[in-house]
Amino acid sequence: MSNIPTNLDDSVTEHFVEAAKNVLKENLLGNFTKPAPGLYPHQWNWDAGFIALGYARSDFRQACNELSALFRGQWANGMVPQIVFSVQNKGKYFPGYVFWNTKGVPGKPRNVRTSGITMPPVHGFILNHLLKLAPDSKRYRPFFQRMFDRVLLLHQYCYEFRDPEREGLAFICHPWESGMDNLPTWEEVFTQIQFDASQVPPYERRDLEYVDAPYRPRKQSYDRYIYLVDLLRKQRYQEPEIWNDYPFQVQEPMFNAILNHSNEALLELGQWLGQDTGQLREWYTQTNQALSHKLWDESLGVFVSYDRVHRRPIPITTAGGLIPLLCGAANAEQSARMVSLIQSPTFSGTSENPAWLCASTALDEPGFDACRYWRGPVWINMNWLLFHGLRRYGQADLAARLRSDSLELVRKFGFWEYYNPWKNLPEGEKNGGYGADQFSWTAALVLDWLEE
Ligand code: SER
Repeated sequence: MSNIPTNLDDSVTEHFVEAAKNVLKENLLGNFTKPAPGLYPHQWNWDAGFIALGYARSDFRQACNELSALFRGQWANGMVPQIVFSVQNKGKYFPGYVFWNTKGVPGKPRNVRTSGITMPPVHGFILNHLLKLAPDSKRYRPFFQRMFDRVLLLHQYCYEFRDPEREGLAFICHPWESGMDNLPTWEEVFTQIQFDASQVPPYERRDLEYVDAPYRPRKQSYDRYIYLVDLLRKQRYQEPEIWNDYPFQVQEPMFNAILNHSNEALLELGQWLGQDTGQLREWYTQTNQALSHKLWDESLGVFVSYDRVHRRPIPITTAGGLIPLLCGAANAEQSARMVSLIQSPTFSGTSENPAWLCASTALDEPGFDACRYWRGPVWINMNWLLFHGLRRYGQADLAARLRSDSLELVRKFGFWEYYNPWKNLPEGEKNGGYGADQFSWTAALVLDWLEE
Protein backbone atom coordinates (compact mmCIF):
# COMPACT_ATOMS: atom_id res chain seq x y z
CA MET A 1 0.00 0.00 0.00
CA SER A 2 2.55 2.64 1.05
CA ASN A 3 5.11 1.44 -1.50
CA ILE A 4 3.32 3.23 -4.32
CA PRO A 5 6.04 4.75 -6.53
CA THR A 6 6.25 8.51 -6.85
CA ASN A 7 6.37 9.27 -10.57
CA LEU A 8 3.29 8.94 -12.63
CA ASP A 9 4.07 7.17 -15.88
CA ASP A 10 1.49 4.73 -17.28
CA SER A 11 2.65 1.65 -15.41
CA VAL A 12 2.71 3.56 -12.13
CA THR A 13 -0.79 4.89 -12.73
CA GLU A 14 -1.92 1.37 -13.39
CA HIS A 15 -0.41 0.19 -10.11
CA PHE A 16 -2.02 3.10 -8.27
CA VAL A 17 -5.41 2.35 -9.82
CA GLU A 18 -5.13 -1.30 -8.81
CA ALA A 19 -4.19 -0.38 -5.24
CA ALA A 20 -7.19 1.97 -5.00
CA LYS A 21 -9.58 -0.63 -6.41
CA ASN A 22 -8.28 -3.09 -3.89
CA VAL A 23 -9.19 -0.78 -1.00
CA LEU A 24 -12.81 -0.68 -2.22
CA LYS A 25 -12.86 -4.42 -2.76
CA GLU A 26 -11.61 -5.09 0.78
CA ASN A 27 -14.21 -2.75 2.27
CA LEU A 28 -17.16 -4.14 0.30
CA LEU A 29 -19.68 -5.58 2.73
CA GLY A 30 -22.59 -7.17 0.92
CA ASN A 31 -24.45 -4.45 -0.98
CA PHE A 32 -22.44 -1.45 0.26
CA THR A 33 -18.86 -0.42 0.96
CA LYS A 34 -17.90 0.56 4.49
CA PRO A 35 -15.70 3.66 4.88
CA ALA A 36 -12.79 1.73 6.44
CA PRO A 37 -11.91 -1.43 8.31
CA GLY A 38 -12.26 -1.20 12.11
CA LEU A 39 -13.23 2.37 12.88
CA TYR A 40 -16.25 2.67 10.54
CA PRO A 41 -18.10 -0.66 10.14
CA HIS A 42 -21.45 0.63 8.79
CA GLN A 43 -22.66 2.68 5.80
CA TRP A 44 -22.20 6.44 6.04
CA ASN A 45 -24.26 8.92 4.08
CA TRP A 46 -21.87 11.18 2.12
CA ASP A 47 -19.21 8.46 2.06
CA ALA A 48 -21.66 6.39 -0.03
CA GLY A 49 -21.81 9.19 -2.62
CA PHE A 50 -18.04 9.55 -2.99
CA ILE A 51 -17.57 5.79 -2.96
CA ALA A 52 -20.12 5.42 -5.78
CA LEU A 53 -17.87 7.63 -7.94
CA GLY A 54 -14.97 5.25 -7.38
CA TYR A 55 -16.97 2.37 -8.86
CA ALA A 56 -18.56 4.36 -11.67
CA ARG A 57 -16.05 3.47 -14.40
CA SER A 58 -15.29 -0.12 -13.48
CA ASP A 59 -18.43 -1.51 -11.84
CA PHE A 60 -21.38 0.73 -12.61
CA ARG A 61 -23.86 -1.62 -11.00
CA GLN A 62 -22.03 -1.37 -7.66
CA ALA A 63 -21.97 2.43 -7.98
CA CYS A 64 -25.78 2.30 -8.16
CA ASN A 65 -25.98 -0.24 -5.31
CA GLU A 66 -24.16 2.14 -2.98
CA LEU A 67 -26.84 4.82 -3.39
CA SER A 68 -29.75 2.36 -3.37
CA ALA A 69 -28.47 0.80 -0.15
CA LEU A 70 -28.18 4.20 1.53
CA PHE A 71 -31.63 5.36 0.45
CA ARG A 72 -33.23 2.21 1.90
CA GLY A 73 -32.72 4.13 5.14
CA GLN A 74 -34.59 7.26 4.00
CA TRP A 75 -37.30 8.37 6.45
CA ALA A 76 -40.87 9.18 5.38
CA ASN A 77 -40.21 12.92 5.79
CA GLY A 78 -37.34 12.66 3.29
CA MET A 79 -34.44 12.68 5.77
CA VAL A 80 -31.55 10.45 4.69
CA PRO A 81 -29.69 9.26 7.77
CA GLN A 82 -26.00 9.84 8.43
CA ILE A 83 -25.55 6.12 9.23
CA VAL A 84 -27.33 3.01 7.98
CA PHE A 85 -26.24 0.31 10.41
CA SER A 86 -25.06 -3.05 9.19
CA VAL A 87 -26.54 -5.96 11.16
CA GLN A 88 -23.26 -7.83 10.75
CA ASN A 89 -21.34 -5.34 12.84
CA LYS A 90 -23.51 -4.86 15.90
CA GLY A 91 -21.70 -3.41 18.87
CA LYS A 92 -18.47 -2.47 17.11
CA TYR A 93 -19.23 1.22 16.77
CA PHE A 94 -20.33 3.94 19.15
CA PRO A 95 -22.93 5.41 19.05
CA GLY A 96 -24.68 2.36 17.60
CA TYR A 97 -28.29 1.73 16.69
CA VAL A 98 -29.39 1.06 20.27
CA PHE A 99 -27.93 4.33 21.53
CA TRP A 100 -29.62 6.36 18.79
CA ASN A 101 -32.89 4.70 19.84
CA THR A 102 -34.63 5.32 16.54
CA LYS A 103 -36.52 2.03 16.74
CA GLY A 104 -40.24 2.74 16.40
CA VAL A 105 -39.78 6.44 15.60
CA PRO A 106 -42.65 7.40 13.25
CA GLY A 107 -41.40 7.68 9.69
CA LYS A 108 -38.22 5.61 10.08
CA PRO A 109 -38.29 2.59 7.73
CA ARG A 110 -39.14 -0.32 10.01
CA ASN A 111 -36.72 -2.87 8.66
CA VAL A 112 -33.65 -0.62 8.38
CA ARG A 113 -31.48 0.42 11.32
CA THR A 114 -30.47 4.05 11.09
CA SER A 115 -29.20 6.97 13.13
CA GLY A 116 -31.51 10.00 13.46
CA ILE A 117 -29.63 12.87 11.79
CA THR A 118 -28.49 13.58 8.23
CA MET A 119 -25.31 14.68 6.37
CA PRO A 120 -24.31 16.90 3.39
CA PRO A 121 -26.66 15.99 0.49
CA VAL A 122 -24.10 15.07 -2.15
CA HIS A 123 -26.39 12.54 -3.84
CA GLY A 124 -27.88 14.86 -6.49
CA PHE A 125 -24.57 15.80 -8.05
CA ILE A 126 -23.16 12.31 -7.60
CA LEU A 127 -26.13 11.02 -9.62
CA ASN A 128 -25.39 13.51 -12.34
CA HIS A 129 -21.76 12.35 -12.49
CA LEU A 130 -23.04 8.78 -12.70
CA LEU A 131 -25.40 9.67 -15.54
CA LYS A 132 -22.44 11.00 -17.53
CA LEU A 133 -20.49 7.81 -16.90
CA ALA A 134 -23.33 5.31 -17.38
CA PRO A 135 -22.38 2.61 -19.87
CA ASP A 136 -25.98 2.56 -21.11
CA SER A 137 -28.04 5.43 -19.74
CA LYS A 138 -31.30 4.10 -21.21
CA ARG A 139 -30.93 0.81 -19.38
CA TYR A 140 -30.31 2.63 -16.11
CA ARG A 141 -33.18 5.07 -16.60
CA PRO A 142 -35.42 3.39 -13.97
CA PHE A 143 -32.58 3.72 -11.44
CA PHE A 144 -32.12 7.41 -12.23
CA GLN A 145 -35.88 8.01 -12.10
CA ARG A 146 -36.18 6.31 -8.71
CA MET A 147 -33.18 8.15 -7.30
CA PHE A 148 -34.31 11.49 -8.71
CA ASP A 149 -37.58 11.14 -6.76
CA ARG A 150 -35.76 10.10 -3.60
CA VAL A 151 -33.21 12.90 -3.73
CA LEU A 152 -35.90 15.47 -4.51
CA LEU A 153 -37.72 14.29 -1.38
CA LEU A 154 -34.50 14.77 0.60
CA HIS A 155 -34.17 18.35 -0.70
CA GLN A 156 -37.81 19.02 0.18
CA TYR A 157 -36.99 17.84 3.68
CA CYS A 158 -34.03 20.24 3.89
CA TYR A 159 -36.12 23.24 2.83
CA GLU A 160 -39.24 22.32 4.78
CA PHE A 161 -37.78 21.21 8.10
CA ARG A 162 -34.37 22.88 8.23
CA ASP A 163 -35.21 26.30 6.86
CA PRO A 164 -38.07 27.55 9.04
CA GLU A 165 -37.71 31.17 7.95
CA ARG A 166 -37.60 30.18 4.27
CA GLU A 167 -34.25 31.91 3.77
CA GLY A 168 -32.90 29.34 1.31
CA LEU A 169 -30.40 28.05 3.91
CA ALA A 170 -30.80 24.70 5.68
CA PHE A 171 -29.45 24.39 9.22
CA ILE A 172 -27.57 21.44 10.69
CA CYS A 173 -28.54 20.23 14.17
CA HIS A 174 -25.31 18.42 15.09
CA PRO A 175 -21.61 18.76 14.18
CA TRP A 176 -21.85 15.26 12.64
CA GLU A 177 -24.38 16.58 10.14
CA SER A 178 -21.69 18.82 8.65
CA GLY A 179 -19.47 15.80 7.95
CA MET A 180 -16.69 17.98 9.42
CA ASP A 181 -17.36 16.80 12.98
CA ASN A 182 -14.62 18.52 14.89
CA LEU A 183 -14.21 22.04 13.47
CA PRO A 184 -13.39 24.78 16.00
CA THR A 185 -16.59 26.40 14.67
CA TRP A 186 -18.67 23.99 16.78
CA GLU A 187 -16.69 24.81 19.93
CA GLU A 188 -17.54 28.43 19.36
CA VAL A 189 -21.25 27.63 19.02
CA PHE A 190 -21.03 25.65 22.26
CA THR A 191 -19.74 28.67 24.19
CA GLN A 192 -23.39 29.82 24.08
CA ILE A 193 -24.95 26.52 25.17
CA GLN A 194 -25.21 25.87 28.89
CA PHE A 195 -25.22 22.30 30.15
CA ASP A 196 -23.39 20.35 32.83
CA ALA A 197 -21.84 16.90 33.07
CA SER A 198 -24.98 15.44 34.66
CA GLN A 199 -26.84 16.07 31.40
CA VAL A 200 -24.47 13.87 29.39
CA PRO A 201 -25.69 10.25 29.47
CA PRO A 202 -23.05 7.62 30.29
CA TYR A 203 -21.23 6.36 27.20
CA GLU A 204 -18.12 4.53 26.15
CA ARG A 205 -16.12 5.56 23.08
CA ARG A 206 -14.99 2.88 20.64
CA ASP A 207 -13.02 5.10 18.23
CA LEU A 208 -9.98 5.26 20.50
CA GLU A 209 -9.56 1.49 20.16
CA TYR A 210 -8.56 2.10 16.55
CA VAL A 211 -6.96 5.56 16.44
CA ASP A 212 -4.76 7.30 19.04
CA ALA A 213 -6.32 10.11 21.04
CA PRO A 214 -4.28 13.04 19.56
CA TYR A 215 -5.85 12.31 16.15
CA ARG A 216 -9.48 12.10 17.30
CA PRO A 217 -11.88 14.59 18.96
CA ARG A 218 -11.27 15.41 22.63
CA LYS A 219 -13.55 14.11 25.39
CA GLN A 220 -15.04 17.57 25.80
CA SER A 221 -16.18 17.52 22.16
CA TYR A 222 -17.52 13.98 22.41
CA ASP A 223 -19.55 14.93 25.52
CA ARG A 224 -21.15 17.65 23.42
CA TYR A 225 -21.92 15.32 20.52
CA ILE A 226 -23.57 12.88 22.92
CA TYR A 227 -25.45 15.59 24.78
CA LEU A 228 -27.05 16.63 21.47
CA VAL A 229 -27.89 13.06 20.43
CA ASP A 230 -29.57 12.63 23.81
CA LEU A 231 -31.72 15.75 23.29
CA LEU A 232 -32.79 14.48 19.87
CA ARG A 233 -33.60 10.93 20.97
CA LYS A 234 -35.51 12.09 24.06
CA GLN A 235 -37.87 13.96 21.73
CA ARG A 236 -38.11 11.03 19.32
CA TYR A 237 -36.66 13.11 16.43
CA GLN A 238 -40.04 14.75 15.88
CA GLU A 239 -39.56 17.60 13.41
CA PRO A 240 -40.40 20.44 13.27
CA GLU A 241 -41.65 20.59 16.92
CA ILE A 242 -38.25 19.60 18.28
CA TRP A 243 -36.60 22.74 16.89
CA ASN A 244 -38.67 25.13 19.06
CA ASP A 245 -36.28 24.63 21.91
CA TYR A 246 -33.14 23.05 20.49
CA PRO A 247 -29.79 24.81 21.04
CA PHE A 248 -27.67 23.79 18.03
CA GLN A 249 -28.95 25.12 14.69
CA VAL A 250 -26.19 26.27 12.38
CA GLN A 251 -26.33 27.40 8.75
CA GLU A 252 -23.03 26.06 7.42
CA PRO A 253 -21.69 27.12 4.00
CA MET A 254 -20.51 23.74 2.70
CA PHE A 255 -23.73 21.91 3.59
CA ASN A 256 -25.72 24.52 1.70
CA ALA A 257 -23.30 24.68 -1.23
CA ILE A 258 -23.52 20.90 -1.59
CA LEU A 259 -27.31 21.07 -1.37
CA ASN A 260 -27.36 23.72 -4.06
CA HIS A 261 -24.90 21.99 -6.35
CA SER A 262 -27.21 18.98 -6.04
CA ASN A 263 -30.18 21.23 -6.88
CA GLU A 264 -28.57 22.26 -10.14
CA ALA A 265 -27.59 18.66 -10.89
CA LEU A 266 -31.19 17.55 -10.31
CA LEU A 267 -32.30 20.30 -12.68
CA GLU A 268 -30.23 18.73 -15.40
CA LEU A 269 -31.26 15.21 -14.49
CA GLY A 270 -34.92 16.24 -14.27
CA GLN A 271 -34.78 17.71 -17.75
CA TRP A 272 -33.34 14.45 -19.06
CA LEU A 273 -36.16 12.56 -17.35
CA GLY A 274 -38.79 15.01 -18.58
CA GLN A 275 -39.73 16.23 -15.06
CA ASP A 276 -41.00 19.60 -13.92
CA THR A 277 -37.96 21.42 -12.52
CA GLY A 278 -39.53 24.76 -11.53
CA GLN A 279 -39.09 24.23 -7.78
CA LEU A 280 -35.44 23.25 -8.22
CA ARG A 281 -34.77 26.42 -10.17
CA GLU A 282 -36.31 28.55 -7.41
CA TRP A 283 -34.29 26.79 -4.70
CA TYR A 284 -31.12 27.17 -6.73
CA THR A 285 -31.50 30.92 -7.15
CA GLN A 286 -32.57 31.57 -3.58
CA THR A 287 -29.85 29.47 -1.95
CA ASN A 288 -27.08 31.02 -4.00
CA GLN A 289 -28.30 34.50 -3.10
CA ALA A 290 -28.58 33.61 0.58
CA LEU A 291 -25.10 32.09 0.64
CA SER A 292 -23.57 35.07 -1.07
CA HIS A 293 -25.29 37.63 1.18
CA LYS A 294 -25.74 36.02 4.56
CA LEU A 295 -22.79 33.64 4.92
CA TRP A 296 -20.05 35.77 3.35
CA ASP A 297 -17.51 37.28 5.77
CA GLU A 298 -16.10 40.39 4.16
CA SER A 299 -13.17 40.79 6.52
CA LEU A 300 -11.96 37.18 6.28
CA GLY A 301 -12.72 36.86 2.57
CA VAL A 302 -14.40 33.47 2.96
CA PHE A 303 -17.84 31.99 3.75
CA VAL A 304 -18.58 31.27 7.41
CA SER A 305 -21.26 29.55 9.51
CA TYR A 306 -24.19 31.36 11.13
CA ASP A 307 -25.62 30.28 14.50
CA ARG A 308 -29.34 30.90 14.05
CA VAL A 309 -30.23 30.27 17.72
CA HIS A 310 -27.84 32.88 19.08
CA ARG A 311 -28.15 35.01 15.95
CA ARG A 312 -24.48 35.48 15.15
CA PRO A 313 -21.95 34.54 12.50
CA ILE A 314 -18.97 32.38 13.53
CA PRO A 315 -15.93 34.04 11.91
CA ILE A 316 -13.62 31.02 11.58
CA THR A 317 -11.82 30.13 8.33
CA THR A 318 -12.29 26.52 7.25
CA ALA A 319 -12.03 24.60 3.97
CA GLY A 320 -15.82 24.27 4.08
CA GLY A 321 -16.01 28.05 3.71
CA LEU A 322 -14.46 27.73 0.22
CA ILE A 323 -16.93 25.16 -1.06
CA PRO A 324 -19.63 27.65 -2.22
CA LEU A 325 -17.43 27.89 -5.35
CA LEU A 326 -18.88 24.51 -6.23
CA CYS A 327 -22.43 25.77 -6.81
CA GLY A 328 -21.53 29.15 -8.28
CA ALA A 329 -22.64 31.11 -5.18
CA ALA A 330 -19.58 33.39 -5.07
CA ASN A 331 -19.67 36.60 -7.10
CA ALA A 332 -16.55 37.70 -9.02
CA GLU A 333 -15.12 39.64 -6.09
CA GLN A 334 -15.80 36.85 -3.58
CA SER A 335 -14.22 34.19 -5.77
CA ALA A 336 -11.14 36.39 -6.33
CA ARG A 337 -10.79 36.85 -2.54
CA MET A 338 -10.99 33.09 -1.98
CA VAL A 339 -8.54 32.29 -4.75
CA SER A 340 -5.96 34.59 -3.14
CA LEU A 341 -6.75 33.20 0.31
CA ILE A 342 -6.00 29.67 -0.91
CA GLN A 343 -2.64 30.90 -2.25
CA SER A 344 -1.83 32.91 0.88
CA PRO A 345 -0.14 31.62 4.09
CA THR A 346 -3.65 30.91 5.45
CA PHE A 347 -3.88 27.78 3.31
CA SER A 348 -0.58 27.50 1.40
CA GLY A 349 1.89 28.14 4.23
CA THR A 350 5.16 29.96 3.53
CA SER A 351 8.27 29.19 1.48
CA GLU A 352 10.03 27.97 4.67
CA ASN A 353 7.00 26.05 5.85
CA PRO A 354 4.88 25.14 2.83
CA ALA A 355 1.56 23.32 3.12
CA TRP A 356 -0.36 20.82 1.04
CA LEU A 357 -3.74 22.06 -0.03
CA CYS A 358 -6.14 22.23 1.65
CA ALA A 359 -6.14 22.34 5.46
CA SER A 360 -9.60 21.60 6.92
CA THR A 361 -9.18 24.37 9.51
CA ALA A 362 -6.99 27.24 8.22
CA LEU A 363 -3.31 27.05 9.20
CA ASP A 364 -3.49 30.43 10.98
CA GLU A 365 -6.67 29.79 13.01
CA PRO A 366 -6.09 29.66 16.80
CA GLY A 367 -7.97 26.31 16.84
CA PHE A 368 -5.66 24.78 14.18
CA ASP A 369 -4.05 21.42 15.00
CA ALA A 370 -2.14 19.60 12.24
CA CYS A 371 -3.01 16.13 13.53
CA ARG A 372 -6.44 16.25 15.07
CA TYR A 373 -9.65 15.26 13.24
CA TRP A 374 -10.91 18.25 11.19
CA ARG A 375 -8.79 20.75 13.16
CA GLY A 376 -6.28 21.11 10.30
CA PRO A 377 -5.58 17.88 8.40
CA VAL A 378 -6.16 17.67 4.64
CA TRP A 379 -9.13 15.55 3.49
CA ILE A 380 -9.28 14.17 -0.04
CA ASN A 381 -13.04 14.69 -0.42
CA MET A 382 -12.70 18.38 0.48
CA ASN A 383 -9.96 18.70 -2.14
CA TRP A 384 -12.17 17.00 -4.72
CA LEU A 385 -15.05 19.39 -4.01
CA LEU A 386 -12.76 22.41 -4.12
CA PHE A 387 -11.11 21.14 -7.32
CA HIS A 388 -14.51 21.18 -9.04
CA GLY A 389 -15.37 24.57 -7.56
CA LEU A 390 -12.13 26.11 -8.83
CA ARG A 391 -12.62 24.61 -12.27
CA ARG A 392 -16.07 26.15 -12.43
CA TYR A 393 -14.46 29.57 -11.85
CA GLY A 394 -11.83 29.04 -14.56
CA GLN A 395 -9.01 28.46 -12.02
CA ALA A 396 -7.51 25.53 -13.90
CA ASP A 397 -3.99 25.86 -12.46
CA LEU A 398 -5.06 26.06 -8.86
CA ALA A 399 -7.51 23.20 -9.43
CA ALA A 400 -4.64 21.16 -10.87
CA ARG A 401 -2.66 21.85 -7.71
CA LEU A 402 -5.51 20.51 -5.57
CA ARG A 403 -5.50 17.36 -7.65
CA SER A 404 -1.74 16.86 -7.67
CA ASP A 405 -1.36 17.63 -3.94
CA SER A 406 -4.03 15.01 -3.24
CA LEU A 407 -2.48 12.34 -5.45
CA GLU A 408 0.97 13.09 -4.07
CA LEU A 409 -0.21 12.72 -0.46
CA VAL A 410 -1.86 9.39 -1.21
CA ARG A 411 1.18 8.15 -3.14
CA LYS A 412 3.55 9.13 -0.37
CA PHE A 413 1.61 7.81 2.59
CA GLY A 414 -1.21 5.50 1.40
CA PHE A 415 -5.00 5.64 1.43
CA TRP A 416 -5.54 7.39 4.75
CA GLU A 417 -8.58 9.15 6.14
CA TYR A 418 -6.71 12.49 6.51
CA TYR A 419 -3.21 13.94 6.20
CA ASN A 420 -0.89 16.34 7.98
CA PRO A 421 -1.08 19.60 5.97
CA TRP A 422 2.60 20.53 6.49
CA LYS A 423 4.98 19.42 3.77
CA ASN A 424 7.84 19.34 6.28
CA LEU A 425 6.84 16.80 8.88
CA PRO A 426 8.45 17.10 12.30
CA GLU A 427 11.91 15.42 12.53
CA GLY A 428 11.61 11.69 12.72
CA GLU A 429 7.97 11.56 11.70
CA LYS A 430 7.60 9.53 8.52
CA ASN A 431 3.89 9.01 8.20
CA GLY A 432 1.75 12.03 7.42
CA GLY A 433 -1.44 9.94 7.02
CA TYR A 434 -3.81 9.67 9.98
CA GLY A 435 -7.09 8.22 11.23
CA ALA A 436 -8.35 5.12 9.44
CA ASP A 437 -6.08 3.41 6.92
CA GLN A 438 -7.49 1.88 3.70
CA PHE A 439 -10.10 4.62 3.65
CA SER A 440 -12.71 4.08 0.95
CA TRP A 441 -13.44 7.60 -0.27
CA THR A 442 -9.74 8.42 -0.52
CA ALA A 443 -9.40 5.43 -2.86
CA ALA A 444 -12.63 6.23 -4.72
CA LEU A 445 -11.70 9.85 -5.44
CA VAL A 446 -8.17 8.90 -6.50
CA LEU A 447 -9.85 6.56 -9.00
CA ASP A 448 -12.15 9.32 -10.19
CA TRP A 449 -9.15 11.59 -10.79
CA LEU A 450 -6.91 8.99 -12.39
CA GLU A 451 -9.56 7.54 -14.64
CA GLU A 452 -11.06 10.91 -15.64
N1 SER B 1 -17.66 10.71 11.73
C1 SER B 1 -18.30 10.33 12.95
C2 SER B 1 -17.41 9.46 13.76
O1 SER B 1 -16.28 9.82 13.88
C3 SER B 1 -19.71 9.96 12.88
O2 SER B 1 -20.40 10.41 11.74
O3 SER B 1 -17.76 8.45 14.31
